[in-house]
Amino acid sequence: MTPLIAGNWKMNGLRAESAERAQRVARAAAGVAAELWLCPPFTAIGAIEPVLRGTRVGLGAQDCHARGNGAHTGDISAPMLADAGCGAVILGHSERRAEHGETDAQVRAKTEAAMAAGLMPIVCVGESEAERLAGHAVHVVCGQVAASLPDGFSGVVAYEPIWAIGTGRTPTEADVAEMHAAVRAALRDRLGEAAGNAVRILYGGSVKPENARVLLRIPEVGGALVGGASLDPDSFLAIAEGASGK
Ligand code: 13P
Repeated sequence: MTPLIAGNWKMNGLRAESAERAQRVARAAAGVAAELWLCPPFTAIGAIEPVLRGTRVGLGAQDCHARGNGAHTGDISAPMLADAGCGAVILGHSERRAEHGETDAQVRAKTEAAMAAGLMPIVCVGESEAERLAGHAVHVVCGQVAASLPDGFSGVVAYEPIWAIGTGRTPTEADVAEMHAAVRAALRDRLGEAAGNAVRILYGGSVKPENARVLLRIPEVGGALVGGASLDPDSFLAIAEGASGK
């Protein structure tokens, strides 16, 4: 499977700088073998859509509501994202689970809505440091996989250990390999053999050009979800080149 590298810009970037950043990625993307996605904040989607249209770089968002429309002040629905030119959406990021109290059941409902709107869901799972230290990481993450994915899921799962996000710390290669193998098994259990095998499993958490090549070579790591380093097009592209084996 082609590796997938997605940039999660989180709550960063005004329209002009976002368009400029997207332009730099799009210009270099032709020479990169990985599938690339950029996920800006909602307000920059309109500025970036014309920049990425017709290029090899996909446009994604960072959340959506489970309903298509209605009285949900401040929310954005999956059909609205599709209408705005998005092809993917990040769901259940640990920052939304922590700051907005999102549960597995809500993530599952949002994922269903995203699929119904034709968006590729990128569903995030990951353990806290306390859970890892207690030896519960695999159990917690596989539980999130089982509960956050709807029947018939097709899309991407991103394993992001919470303690590795924005900290410069990453799990050992052995820990990443163990977790990705466990997530693969959980996907097969949840979705069946063929559908479970078709899901790409990304690693996220302090991915940088310096560690990307090693992380992306680990079995069952099908790409990366990149936060901080995706705000610099050169870093993001260097990570993508690591994924393509350059
Ligand atoms: P960092 O790459 O900044 O650690 O963020 C990872 C992340 O949360 C991507 O969704």
